[in-house]
Amino acid sequence: MTIGNPINRIDGKLKVTGSARYAADFAVGTPLYAELVTSTIGLGRVTGVDDSAARRVPGVREVYSHANPLPVDAADFFGMGGRAQQSWQPFAEPDVRFNGEIVGLVVADTLIAAREAARSMRLDYETQEPAAVFGAEGLEPEELPDRGLSAGDIEAAMQAATQSVDETYRTSANTHNAMELFATTAQWSGDELTVYVPSQWVEGFAAGIAEELGIDRSRVRVVSPYVGGGFGGKGSLFTWTSIIAAAARDLGRPVKLYVTREQGFTTASYRAETEQDFRLGAGEGGRFTGFEHTGREISSRADTYVVNGSENTSRMYHADAVRTGVTCVHADRQTPGFMRAPPETPYFFALESGVDELAWKLGMDPVELRRVNDIDREPVNGVPYTSRSLMECYDAAADRFGWSDYEQRVGSRTDGDWLVGWGCATATYPTLMAPCSVRLHLDATGTARVWVASHDVGTGAYTVLAQATAQALGIPVENVSIELGDSRLPPGTIAGGSISTASNVSVIEIAARQIHDKLGTTAETMNPEEAFANYGQRAIEEYAEWIPPAASRKQARTLYNGKVAIVGGPEEDYTAFAFGAEFAEVRVHKYTREVRVPRLIGAFAAGRIMNEKTARSQYLGGMIWGLGHALLEKTEVDPRNGKIVNANIAEYLVPVNADVQELEAILIPETDEKVNPAGVKGIGEIGIVGTAAAIANAVYHATGIRVRHTPIHVEDLLPQA
Ligand code: MOS
Repeated sequence: MTIGNPINRIDGKLKVTGSARYAADFAVGTPLYAELVTSTIGLGRVTGVDDSAARRVPGVREVYSHANPLPVDAADFFGMGGRAQQSWQPFAEPDVRFNGEIVGLVVADTLIAAREAARSMRLDYETQEPAAVFGAEGLEPEELPDRGLSAGDIEAAMQAATQSVDETYRTSANTHNAMELFATTAQWSGDELTVYVPSQWVEGFAAGIAEELGIDRSRVRVVSPYVGGGFGGKGSLFTWTSIIAAAARDLGRPVKLYVTREQGFTTASYRAETEQDFRLGAGEGGRFTGFEHTGREISSRADTYVVNGSENTSRMYHADAVRTGVTCVHADRQTPGFMRAPPETPYFFALESGVDELAWKLGMDPVELRRVNDIDREPVNGVPYTSRSLMECYDAAADRFGWSDYEQRVGSRTDGDWLVGWGCATATYPTLMAPCSVRLHLDATGTARVWVASHDVGTGAYTVLAQATAQALGIPVENVSIELGDSRLPPGTIAGGSISTASNVSVIEIAARQIHDKLGTTAETMNPEEAFANYGQRAIEEYAEWIPPAASRKQARTLYNGKVAIVGGPEEDYTAFAFGAEFAEVRVHKYTREVRVPRLIGAFAAGRIMNEKTARSQYLGGMIWGLGHALLEKTEVDPRNGKIVNANIAEYLVPVNADVQELEAILIPETDEKVNPAGVKGIGEIGIVGTAAAIANAVYHATGIRVRHTPIHVEDLLPQA
């Protein structure tokens, strides 16, 4: 068995020796260097551009701004089925829509000259006061009634409850801050364009760049074989990418852009802050009666983007009646976007905090409350789960954690000056899939090559696809090489929504079957030399497509159009989710109110696991990020001017080794033959879901203080008067 083996990453050596080439590493002759100029006001317009000092910097080739724009259109916004991170192009107009927006570009012979010139740009502004954060005057709420769900009579169900919670929860804005900075290199050869850009979606980027430059899609190649962390932040086409390509065309030279860490905060996407109203009632024995969850989410003025996580929170437990809703709150901010478990991370903080609050009110063990409300059909459409191992996860994690010693009493555990608390929460992620193709080559030496325009964003995709290929063909994994991250390869999936493994493994198995059909072999009996001798050829190359059954004919056609058609999760006739349970121990210092997390234990069930080592890394990484979401991460926006005041990784706090103490992920075996041919559920995002609630619940257990927002800071835990 190759699948499941915890083999090391096949690209590990390339990465640790510096031989793996990331987008910015590609050499392109003698490039020019670009530097972005960003706005220093939060709203208004540029009334004057003085680039004379910038142009005097030795080595400067050109200065672009709305006074000297580049011919670039905006591709359709991804939130409306397109590919672009936002619906407008920077400096096409003098308007400034948020603080840190791109308002100009300098191109020079050297990076240093470009940076110096960018700093020498003098812009005059007409400034207005932005409405950038919740509570500001001038926000525009847009209700999205078609995104809400309703089942049963919610008011009657709430009336029937003997206990209920009715609270508002808030989650903070977060910025991806992948280790690999954003970058773009554009090189023209005649009318053929090659773009090296960190990307979770080379197909979509290529199509979007073609759209923005008004050239044929076949003329654009996007290359991104390795990605140093994406987390969703590299999943939609950056506004600057086509601008760099247009500058390269204008100047007749390759152009290279490195986006600084600070600029990455304002020129790419982010996880928007939310406010959520949550109501949950319980009747006899804790069985839930009514479930109501509505969200408000910040977006830009122009773009309607919501993650609408109650699509999924409403599917978790029994409920007699369900009502959900979502409002997009338009503000003077950049357009937000995907960030690891985009809907679930914020919305499960509310759900899983709320369930815990109800457990305390009922005097019920929070694990038992979830058991009482465990289901095999989701309550909105009443359709069955393909598989659901939630309580197996709870039982395994609870056992490992020692939960049988839990006492539901504030302050029940102390250790010297430390108040100790325990909490738990559900983790989940819908099993999503998308149409995908592959080209698979096998030769008489038993060597296989796989080509697909999918991605390894650091998750281990190269490795697990090699394992899947080896097993499907019946050859050693060392004999498989994989090429990903190039839009010239057969169209793959976006590396988002945890869809890659399920989709790619499903299509690889089809291609392998085609090869076996021709050779008259099976994986079990494969002897390449003999088989090819009989076949009379040295090699076979097969192309295959996989269209998930739930995808419509129309969605299937998106495969060759650089669009994405994601299906799965809650569908009309089934519902597919991976599950987990996370347990946290916290220590809150009696006097300083500092919070530490000495233990985090999660158990996860996600169908067939391709590689126990890379899977565990995904879970652990997700839980660590959940700890950051709970206690550290927050993109701080100054309400006076919309400026992000901690746009660096010194002041934007993320967990470091010392913050993470005992950490464990338990893999619960699960077989799901219905979910997809590969039997695989995505695991890239589930780890972060629920962690923040588990920690907040533990903080309550320790202190009796219920914090209904993230991150939880020392000042939230000062003893209440
Ligand atoms: Mo993930 S946020 O879907 O890249």
